[in-house]
Amino acid sequence: MVCMALILDKNAVRESLPMKEAISAVEDGFRLIKTAVVPQRLPIKIERYNAVFLYMPAYVGGVDALVVKEVSVHPDNLQKGLPTVRGTVLLNNPSDGSLLAILDGGSLTAIRTGATTGVATKYLARRDATNLGMFGCGAQAKTQLEAVACVRGIRRAKVYDINHAAARDFAVEMSRSLGIDVQVKESPEEILKGADIIVTATTSRTPVFNGSSVEPGTHINGIGSHTPDAREIDTDTIKRSRLIVDSRDACLREAGDIIIPIGEGAITERHIKADLGEVVSGECEGRTSDEEITVFKSVGLALEDAVAALRAYKIAMEKGLGKKIEF
Ligand SMILES: NC(=O)c1ccc[n+]([C@@H]2O[C@H](COP(=O)([O-])OP(=O)(O)OC[C@H]3O[C@@H](n4cnc5c(N)ncnc54)[C@H](O)[C@@H]3O)[C@@H](O)[C@H]2O)c1
Repeated sequence: MVCMALILDKNAVRESLPMKEAISAVEDGFRLIKTAVVPQRLPIKIERYNAVFLYMPAYVGGVDALVVKEVSVHPDNLQKGLPTVRGTVLLNNPSDGSLLAILDGGSLTAIRTGATTGVATKYLARRDATNLGMFGCGAQAKTQLEAVACVRGIRRAKVYDINHAAARDFAVEMSRSLGIDVQVKESPEEILKGADIIVTATTSRTPVFNGSSVEPGTHINGIGSHTPDAREIDTDTIKRSRLIVDSRDACLREAGDIIIPIGEGAITERHIKADLGEVVSGECEGRTSDEEITVFKSVGLALEDAVAALRAYKIAMEKGLGKKIEF
């Protein structure tokens, strides 16, 4: 019997998965996390290219989504004009093993990572939040800003990148596409001042701001770092915050932002208040006061890829997007 698989390249993925749909799929995914099988991802580090390849499978029983993603992170690619994050996602039919779709993993990753921040921000940021501060103006930053603007009435974004040209281009593009005021700032302190929501989406291996300057009531999404020896958020911020994570197991294995303060004796594992799934399902409280500093740390889960890929596939099939191939 002929098996037809759908190919969704980066443009087809973007068309098939508007941010509101992605947020809805990822929120459902976190609500269904107890029906999911998400094995530890397998990293292969290739020192000679300063690269890591991650192999990430997941099955989400609640929506019958089965994927495997291979994704690479090459921080040096940026200087060559190439994307830092690239990959491929295979979506299978769990009932008979057939291949349903092959999706561009770079765009799917950016959209689902933005959507995950959207879900966390929906539950953890103050309802009256209007000002966003962004660290890093690369590929992830775009979908981060887009997602936050979907769940809160963002009027102004202040952005900072060690690469000033990247920050300038980002501000022009995002203010045009989202119709909000996006301002480039010259220092981390200017980003923190008056920000209701912060996003760190950098390739930095060391903290990108000083925690003593974080104002009460701020919500922070830390999405950039994902190895035990690298972090974007300092010990002071983590210590002062109510800490929610995408996955305790994954963050205690991979998130330097949490592993380093534990190693210093500043916090223990019990400082993690909840997984995002527990907050979404109502098992654990999100923000408990307007003055609280909340931190959401994400290292990225294949669960997010599974639900996002399935939603993109369904929409693409409905709208006739992508290219069908015999497989
Ligand atoms: N949590 C997740 O699920 C997830 C998903 C995808 C990517 N990531 C990670 O997010 C990070 C960013 O990815 P990307 O695709 O946007 O990379 P990118 O290379 O496109 O952009 C990163 C930007 O960060 C800037 N930067 C570096 N250090 C900085 C600092 N100290 N202050 C401000 N800006 C700084 C760089 O100049 C660059 O513009 C990577 O580490 C990637 O592995 C995480």
